Amino acid sequence: MKKDKILVIGACGQIGVELTLALRKIYGAENVLASDLREQNELLKGTGPYVSIDVMKKDALQLQVIRQGITQIYHLAAILSATGERSPLIAWNLNMQGLLNVLEIAREEKLDKVYWPSSIAVFGNSSPKQNCPQQTIIEPSTVYGISKYAGEFWCNYFFMRYGVDVRSLRYPGIISYKSAPGGGTTDYAVEIYHQALKEKSYECFLKEDTYLPMMYMADAIRATIELMEAPAEKISVRTSYNVAAMSFSPKEIFQEIKKHIPDFTISYKSDFRQTIADSWPQSIDDNVARKDWGWKEEFNLSETTADMLKNLQL
Ligand code: NAD
Ligand code: SER
Repeated sequence: MKKDKILVIGACGQIGVELTLALRKIYGAENVLASDLREQNELLKGTGPYVSIDVMKKDALQLQVIRQGITQIYHLAAILSATGERSPLIAWNLNMQGLLNVLEIAREEKLDKVYWPSSIAVFGNSSPKQNCPQQTIIEPSTVYGISKYAGEFWCNYFFMRYGVDVRSLRYPGIISYKSAPGGGTTDYAVEIYHQALKEKSYECFLKEDTYLPMMYMADAIRATIELMEAPAEKISVRTSYNVAAMSFSPKEIFQEIKKHIPDFTISYKSDFRQTIADSWPQSIDDNVARKDWGWKEEFNLSETTADMLKNLQL
């Protein structure tokens, strides 16, 4: 068992719940402190320590870090793309100040490592649509994307200037069955499974041919832990790594689900999230992550679909 003491901030969100559970398996339940603004998620109850933390309150957060002997922080608290467009300044404030609080605490308390996720949302209309490379023209058009891109450079700055070992992935849309997604443009690819089972019909807020990069949660968790456990000398990117697994459109995920639920139907009524989706790449080139620390996905669309439907019916 490793000796690290980990704090997960935003542990009750879509990724936080599963990441906390996975970290507890590796590091021991008592060594992974889950925290969030919200009440503890049902799936976390009884699995390890939990504390209520607002990442915006730096002094209280720092006190917890000192008291609990924290050595690593996984900082997941953020406002995602669709919710961010409804309240841009609130999203900017949380996404930037929350990260700066964590980075400052990591510097002051000399933490071993910090994890902070970026997103494919850093890319904008001027970035290549197909196989979007690690380094390219990056002009984000959402407040979420702007905050992630600025965040990437703050991570790089804290590494270069202060030696804070901060690591990051540009997640694509994450598909999962355990905890609900929190207001992103890619959320349709989770909702669709629930609606297929519950109603046998789904009204999609994106057009049928909108391709976006996606990843199954099991792969996202493994990518995160593999990145964090990689030797420091293997990490050549201190802004944030492109990672990819699959790309598909609403029509393709519908057709895949229909193989399991033949009477499933879909209709399309795009809303403001279409503009966000259209500004992002359709597929991502993640060769740098593959070369540096051996990233490789395990789940494609048909494996994801089979696993989602099986687990949602348990
Ligand atoms: P989520 O919205 O499901 O969870 C975020 C959690 O942060 C929530 O539980 C929320 O209560 C908590 N939180 C909000 N404000 C807080 C505060 N002030 N203090 C403490 N906690 C607070 O988000 P998620 O989907 O789990 O995403 C986690 C991270 O991964 C985010 O940084 C997000 O940008 C990034 N990401 C997610 C996806 C995806 O598809 N889910 C894709 C790319 C990047
Ligand atoms: N899934 C996220 C979103 O749609 C991408 O960062 O906001």
